[in-house]
Amino acid sequence: MSDPQSSADPLLRVRDLRIEVPGGAEAVRGVSFDVAPGEAVGLVGESGSGKTLTCRAVLGVLAPGCAVTGGSIEFDGRELTGLSHKEWEAVRGTGIGAVFQDPASYLNPSLTIGGQLAEVLRVKRGLGRRAARERALELLTSMELRDPARVYGQYPHELSGGMLQRVMIAIAVSCAPRLLIADEATTALDVTVQAEVLELLNRLRGEHRLSVVLVSHDLAVIAETCDRVAVLYRGEIVETGPTAEVLAAPRHAYTRELLREAREFSPAGAAA
Ligand SMILES: Nc1ncnc2c1ncn2[C@@H]1O[C@H](COP(=O)(O)OP(=O)(O)OP(=O)(O)O)[C@@H](O)[C@H]1O
Ligand SMILES: [Mg+2]
Repeated sequence: MSDPQSSADPLLRVRDLRIEVPGGAEAVRGVSFDVAPGEAVGLVGESGSGKTLTCRAVLGVLAPGCAVTGGSIEFDGRELTGLSHKEWEAVRGTGIGAVFQDPASYLNPSLTIGGQLAEVLRVKRGLGRRAARERALELLTSMELRDPARVYGQYPHELSGGMLQRVMIAIAVSCAPRLLIADEATTALDVTVQAEVLELLNRLRGEHRLSVVLVSHDLAVIAETCDRVAVLYRGEIVETGPTAEVLAAPRHAYTRELLREAREFSPAGAAA
């Protein structure tokens, strides 16, 4: 599609990505986009258009029966498709972090928040017990949780959705990734908390020159956060470009439709 490139040396370079789902249907059909260092790229599109499959492919965590059948995913110049399970683990641990819509399902209900975060730091960063504990508390503090020391000792079920998402972001950035994938990470949160979590993401992005791939149904969220946007429709990118340009003058009928729906949903026209 038109101009998927953003720079000569992108951090993430996806080319002609094809993904099949169980039953053999091709749900992602030749998706290409780049993410430059420090850049935030939004993926939008109707339900079922292939946003999550694309994210999961980049993370190497496609569901059983789903498979990359073509194309390339290059991260920092390295081809990721075809990596072994172990090699993927290493890339996920230190190169690419992820935050999803349902943080609770990624946390162990029977371990404290601090315990889980410290464990990640021990395993992935090789910190000793004490250093891991200290770093975990530091991370929770930098997530702007009101009482980080208390949260450290709490269990997932004791936290609100917004707090859990901050914990997930802490886990995602604990290994100093260069790319963060946020798939509907704020969708389940109420508007105020959503704005706070987005602000946190933006701050982390600035502080660590983190690249971001942000999936959202909410064009206002995309407009606020993303430098560029790619619009998916039935497994293909139908439009891509600087967010302000695409939202101000959408070329594709489907993008215009998305914008129209967004305005109807939010009469203030926040996305426009
Ligand atoms: N594990 C799976 N088994 C079968 N089909 C799947 C699977 N995962 C995804 N699909 C199909 O692939 C298509 C794209 O799915 P995907 O989850 O990427 O959509 P999405 O754009 O993230 O949608 P949403 O906005 O609802 O999250 C859909 O038609 C979906 O039904
Ligand atoms: Mg999805």
